Amino acid sequence: MKNILVTGGSGFIGSHTCYALLAEGYEITVLDSLANSSKRSLDQIIKIFKSQDLDFSNKLRFFEGDIRNKDFINSIFKKAVEEKKPIDGVIHFAGLKAVAESVLKPLSYWDNNVFGSYNLISCMKENNCKTIVFSSSATVYGISSESLLIENTPLNPINPYGSTKLAVENLLNDVNQDVNENWKIAILRYFNPIGAHNSGLLGENPLQKPNNIFPIIINAAYKKEKLKVFGNDWPTNDGTCIRDYIHVMDLAEGHIKALNHLFTQKKQLIHLNIGTGLGHSVLDLIKTFETVNEVKVPFQICSRRDGDVCKLVANNSKAKEILNWNPIRSLHEMCKDGWQWKLMNPKGYIL
Ligand code: NAD
Ligand code: WQD
Repeated sequence: MKNILVTGGSGFIGSHTCYALLAEGYEITVLDSLANSSKRSLDQIIKIFKSQDLDFSNKLRFFEGDIRNKDFINSIFKKAVEEKKPIDGVIHFAGLKAVAESVLKPLSYWDNNVFGSYNLISCMKENNCKTIVFSSSATVYGISSESLLIENTPLNPINPYGSTKLAVENLLNDVNQDVNENWKIAILRYFNPIGAHNSGLLGENPLQKPNNIFPIIINAAYKKEKLKVFGNDWPTNDGTCIRDYIHVMDLAEGHIKALNHLFTQKKQLIHLNIGTGLGHSVLDLIKTFETVNEVKVPFQICSRRDGDVCKLVANNSKAKEILNWNPIRSLHEMCKDGWQWKLMNPKGYIL
């Protein structure tokens, strides 16, 4: 049974992927600083399996610490060897992700996202672990005139967060140039992950005020406070921006497919868009949320947000073909599962 190191594993996407890894039969070693998450997400995963009469508590190890601390990362690799469960591969989620904050604190983003990733990749090399799935983002494309983004669309991030994601992609590209090393690397560019596990026990729990539309919709519906729709004068059917929203469990399963794929390869680096290929406007999302959940989402139309792009939708053919992966959950399910999570956990993971 392979042991996978999951950095940032107690966060939103990380925790759903940890669930999917255990379900697939992997053991997991989670490293997280808890800077933007709670360890309770991992307890909830164990609870979901318990409800299915499965005890996976001895298949999940947790280490609290920071990827900026190389000794700490190395100690995890060494301990895994001592316990005769060496780390076979890494899924690297840990990092900061708020676009607006990255403009205010660019050095912090380079420190966490780039320096932290450099440390991790160095430790992987030192410990002879060369298989990695990296969380990149559609944000690396920046402003593009393409209607569907394909992986070879020119990259042009327009904020420090995006620059740090591209920097790590470049670092991995360079590392892979070494002909003497058999790196197996999958760079996944996520579009807009939303929703929650359908048990209602696992979901998104931002510790800071959310900036992304979906947790803002949930809060607007819950607190009956108006949200701001950023512009209705975009060149789209209803004038609001279009995004490719993807269910977090489809995204999580994409990671499993990527990892399984890498383990069958000799040396490889792939870039893959992970989206549904379907575009929905902000108003589509709000209306679907209202209809599915029979709640009102109060909103007002405001001016455009700086740095927004009219349309970001994935051409996901490459991921579908190479990974044999298919996102199967509809916008309806994303809205239903996200609201169920909120109703069952109004304070997130806080008891
Ligand atoms: P998240 O904040 O919920 O998860 C990130 C996790 O990393 C958190 O648990 C946080 O505590 C941890 N972390 C942060 N800095 C760390 C450090 N220096 N050392 C150790 N742990 C650290 O975010 P998420 O939405 O789950 O995103 C996961 C990854 O996916 C991130 O790299 C993000 O950039 C990327 N991504 C997210 C989205 C999105 O919309 N959520 C889209 C594209 C890409
Ligand atoms: C979606 C749509 C807004 C908030 C960001 C990052 C990207 C990735 C995903 C990490 C847009 C509109 C939003 C609000 C609104 N994250 N909106 N009112 O901008 O597509 O992508 O998150 O990698 O890198 O850039 O996502 O959820 O912020 O916005 O009208 O209060 O919702 O204008 O059209 P975005 P988002």
